[in-house]
Amino acid sequence: MSDFKSRNNTLDETEVQTLIRTAMSVRDKAYAPYSEFKVGAAILCSDGRVFSGCNVENAAYGAGICAERGAGMQALASGSQEFTAIAVVGWKDDTDEGDRGLSYPCGICRQFLNEFTDGSLRVYVARSPSDYDENDLASLLPHSFGPKNLED
Ligand code: THU
Repeated sequence: MSDFKSRNNTLDETEVQTLIRTAMSVRDKAYAPYSEFKVGAAILCSDGRVFSGCNVENAAYGAGICAERGAGMQALASGSQEFTAIAVVGWKDDTDEGDRGLSYPCGICRQFLNEFTDGSLRVYVARSPSDYDENDLASLLPHSFGPKNLED
């Protein structure tokens, strides 16, 4: 998919909504029989491509993986290593629309995302295309440790 004109972190409203819709759509594919908490994520990369992922749980609980990292893996495997924006949606299926809280990326996912952005990554945590919080990753992961720390 390459229908985003944004190559930096200034998405217009239509693009934000498209990214959220993509995350909502992949959320339907989540494999979450244990928590019943389905999550979908869509990552826009600097080349304009969008990659999506859902959480995939496992009977050995610790072997499960979050939606955000699933989406990131897709991007990396397709050759995109620079993340510009991410949309995340998550809730239990039996939750009323009005009761859906926002599902922010977990700590491990914040650290994972930090590897592939400079901290200006836009993070849209949404209940619907028109109801979302917007942050940059730097505010969700202050004083982060990243690739720059390991430079000579
Ligand atoms: N989960 C995600 O996919 N992303 C997050 O950032 C938070 C948690 C998933 C993991 C697990 O399958 C379910 O949500 C409940 O924790």
